[in-house]
Amino acid sequence: MADRKQAVLDRLDALNAAALAGGGDKRKARQHAKGKLTARERIAAFLDEGTFVEMDRLVTHRCTDFGMDQQKIYGDGVVTGYGEVGGGKVFVFAQDFTVFGGSLSEAFAGKICKVMDLALRSGVPVVGLNDSGGARIQEGVQSLAGYAEIFYRNVAASGVVPQISVVMGPCAGGAVYSPAITDFVIMVRKTSFMFITGPEVIRTVTHEEVTQEDLGGADRHAGTSGVAHFACDDEKQALAVVRELLSYLPANNLDAPPVVPTSDPTDRRDADLAELVPFDPMKPYDMKELIGKIVDDGRFLEVHADYARNILCGFARLGGRSVGVVGNQPAVLAGCLDIDASVKAARFVRFCDAFNIPLVTFVDVPGFLPGTAQEYGGIIRHGAKLLYAYAEATVPKVTVITRKAYGGAYDVMSSKHIRGDLNYAWPSAEIAVMGPEGAVKIIHRNAIAQAEDPVATKDAYVSEYTDLFANPFKAAELGYIDEVLAPEDTRPRLISALSLLEGKQDRLPAKKHGNIPL
Ligand code: HXC
Repeated sequence: MADRKQAVLDRLDALNAAALAGGGDKRKARQHAKGKLTARERIAAFLDEGTFVEMDRLVTHRCTDFGMDQQKIYGDGVVTGYGEVGGGKVFVFAQDFTVFGGSLSEAFAGKICKVMDLALRSGVPVVGLNDSGGARIQEGVQSLAGYAEIFYRNVAASGVVPQISVVMGPCAGGAVYSPAITDFVIMVRKTSFMFITGPEVIRTVTHEEVTQEDLGGADRHAGTSGVAHFACDDEKQALAVVRELLSYLPANNLDAPPVVPTSDPTDRRDADLAELVPFDPMKPYDMKELIGKIVDDGRFLEVHADYARNILCGFARLGGRSVGVVGNQPAVLAGCLDIDASVKAARFVRFCDAFNIPLVTFVDVPGFLPGTAQEYGGIIRHGAKLLYAYAEATVPKVTVITRKAYGGAYDVMSSKHIRGDLNYAWPSAEIAVMGPEGAVKIIHRNAIAQAEDPVATKDAYVSEYTDLFANPFKAAELGYIDEVLAPEDTRPRLISALSLLEGKQDRLPAKKHGNIPL
């Protein structure tokens, strides 16, 4: 009996050693030579030390074609399990490029699906570390079925538990759609790429010459396509971003986000704020600097920092509570809303709403960007996404108009009318249908044209309009603004507003789901 017990234990040791060896030292060395960590090294770098519990280490594929029955590697190319990040639970899977190029078999997909199912049932976030040659060619349609099983779960888990994808190697073809459905995509410069069809196919079909990096590298997706929310210089930085991101999020849609104590006083008044926004509406300033002066410890984790830079989205804390911050950026395109900005902010607003993260919106917006490119591109339906997202959001919504709030963009940016809970304006706010110059050219066109001195006449009308509308007072008179707030009081006021709204209860009419204009 003792012999049998020893034999079983020896066998377990051997199996574990074989699983841990992955694709072997040569392939691991190749991985390192590319500047990439192995799947297990990535998990170790990502999770709190010593917290990883592996599952399904001994799973193998079931393929018998192409001599595959002679090539079985325990774990089958993906390391799955759970652990902790900052003390919070998280499920993780890491594709192992050293085993069959990290390609996805039916068994491999089954391992990922198992952790996703558990994550969904237990309300725990899922983080995927992707590095894969795609569908396991030897398995054919079973591999495609495996992908679809994952996609289905990505959709089921969407809005229930946070899902984060880190792309750390190849991710091509239909495989891109799992990261695409998840809440955040983080890419690593030079070593990761994502595309539907690669440079070879593009050369054949469209005769375009493009490199992998230029087609689907981290900067391309973080700056041009918007597929990636973060582009990082190396894998360690990418994993650190995920850890920081998770620190702002609840584990699931029924939990509140974590509260992180801060030494930044809740009653801190920043006198610099009063000087930051120029009263001259033509002068730009940096909304990021403004946000930094208000939030806890100046820490703002910007999401999509290189995409649609005319709007800022990101996470911060106020009085220790997580908030989703949206702000027009006057330093880029004067802060106009365009197609990309609308889509970027709409998705961010919906994420925050799904996960009980209050929204704080800083408004300085001259309107929607004019032009045929925007109109032909569908600014009407894309702009509607942001309007829809803000209107349907039931989390606490607090708005600060720092300067311009013109036209439809005023309505869209978390206005009182679409159920902003507390709406503030700084004395520099201008809340109107449009700016004074544009307005007088329309309403006084004839009078200006017929005047003896058209320039002086126009200036007089501009001055009249400015006195009437280029300020926050009309909106405050009507109760559309709850308070005209001294800029330096913004931090304490926002913190008290969020505390007041902590127990907010709001519901939309019962429905299967709305029909956001996608
Ligand atoms: C099986 C694969 C594989 C795959 C790579 N390997 N991709 N095995 N199925 N899809 C194996 C290789 O045979 C090799 O095995 C090892 O992984 C490393 O591959 P290399 O080519 O040596 O690596 P590298 O030079 O870095 O190139 C990586 C690569 C390339 C760019 C990903 O391997 C490649 O183009 N692979 C095929 C990609 C592909 O066409 N996939 C199917 C796409 S369709 P050894 O034993 O030598 O180490 C798809 C559909 C998904 O994915 C649909 C979802 C709905």
